[in-house]
Amino acid sequence: MKPRTTTALYQTAARAWLTAAGLSLLLPPDRRLGLWLPLHLALAGAISTAISGAMQNFMLALTATPAPSAWLVRAQFALVTSGAGAIAVGMPTATAWLTGLGGTAFVAGTAVLGWMLWRAWRKALNRRHAMPIAAYGAAVGFVVLGGTFGALLGSRVIAGEAYLQLRHAHMTTNVLGWASLTVVGTLVTLLPTALRVRMPPWRGRLVLGLLVGGLSAILLGWWTGATPILATGGAAYAAGALGLVALVVSVLRVERTWGIPLAAMHMLGAAAWFVGGSLGLGVALLDGVAGFDRFRLVFLTAFVGGWLVLAAAAMLLANFLCRCHPERFVARAAARAGIVTVISAGLLQLASITREMLEDPARVCGVSLTDCVGTPPWGSLGPALAIGGAWFLISLGAARLARARRGTT
Ligand code: HEM
Repeated sequence: MKPRTTTALYQTAARAWLTAAGLSLLLPPDRRLGLWLPLHLALAGAISTAISGAMQNFMLALTATPAPSAWLVRAQFALVTSGAGAIAVGMPTATAWLTGLGGTAFVAGTAVLGWMLWRAWRKALNRRHAMPIAAYGAAVGFVVLGGTFGALLGSRVIAGEAYLQLRHAHMTTNVLGWASLTVVGTLVTLLPTALRVRMPPWRGRLVLGLLVGGLSAILLGWWTGATPILATGGAAYAAGALGLVALVVSVLRVERTWGIPLAAMHMLGAAAWFVGGSLGLGVALLDGVAGFDRFRLVFLTAFVGGWLVLAAAAMLLANFLCRCHPERFVARAAARAGIVTVISAGLLQLASITREMLEDPARVCGVSLTDCVGTPPWGSLGPALAIGGAWFLISLGAARLARARRGTT
């Protein structure tokens, strides 16, 4: 299958998932299980589909290998899509076998992606890009693990304390491992490409080692419940995220006479959320499991709303770089409006979380924040804006891609 056809297939599906995620916010909270359904339509649906397609394109470009056969691409797509669809029906309807089956299909789809990656590396014409390929390999390893945890959780074969431990392990493995390592591995080459500068020397292996080692320690911490292990893992992960800052700074310092293109702006915004979220996570894990539970909403806002949504939009925009100059991106002003929407949604969410956190201390001082400022609808407005903004960006991208395919660029 041609890379352009693969891109169109996966990105059209990602757009449909994102639409479903936005619409699911209209359901009553008990029907959508609070945030669970919108979150999984966005993460297991939109982001995992977009990542599966983008990773295939990037791995072929980095290893200079031909595309795998069309049936394999279609099988990968069908497994991930049907798996995400089955869990989206299975969980809200409490059909444990369907959630288990969907989780298994999703994991099988990501394992096929792993096989494609291994094949590309084995046949690689050059081995210059070992770091991004290693990051993709680690990301796929984590999602096979994290997806299996999700399937076990959803099929209700585990209960009590073990369920809570596994829930922590599932969310960190998938968000910090699968999605985040894919994006980090991609930014390494994509940020210099988007800025059209040469890649400066960078300690990528150390950074990847810190992120993978940190996340592995966090998983061990969930298993043992030991706060020192969780704190060490959180500190290592945060140090890895700071390594990403070093990359961003050194890439920005390379001399250039042109401005920062739109795709690069998204990447910088996304990286800021990632680094802020990772530093916050490091601090939260100093207080072990209890600290993480207090941090949960900030975790979702920073990593899912800020980092992953913006990064997915950046990858999409950067895809056009392969085909055209970013300056010729016709809807620059509209796309800027999209990015501003996504960022303000995240800030709105943080404001809402801060307000909730201040409620108890204020009550101790005899003040009721609810009486003073009421209950603003920030809680659902933030996710709605983020999903709407991302949908808008992806729609613009899809329209641009369709025009490029018709040859009217
Ligand atoms: C194999 C497919 C998946 C299944 C079956 C699944 C299932 C589940 C289940 C059962 C829960 C716990 C719900 C609860 O008790 O509150 C959960 C939570 C969560 N999952 Fe998944 N999941 C899957 C894929 C993913 C993916 C790919 C991601 C991220 C990239 C993800 C991110 C999360 C997060 C962040 C939470 C915590 C939500 C919260 O705290 O409100 N899941 N998932």
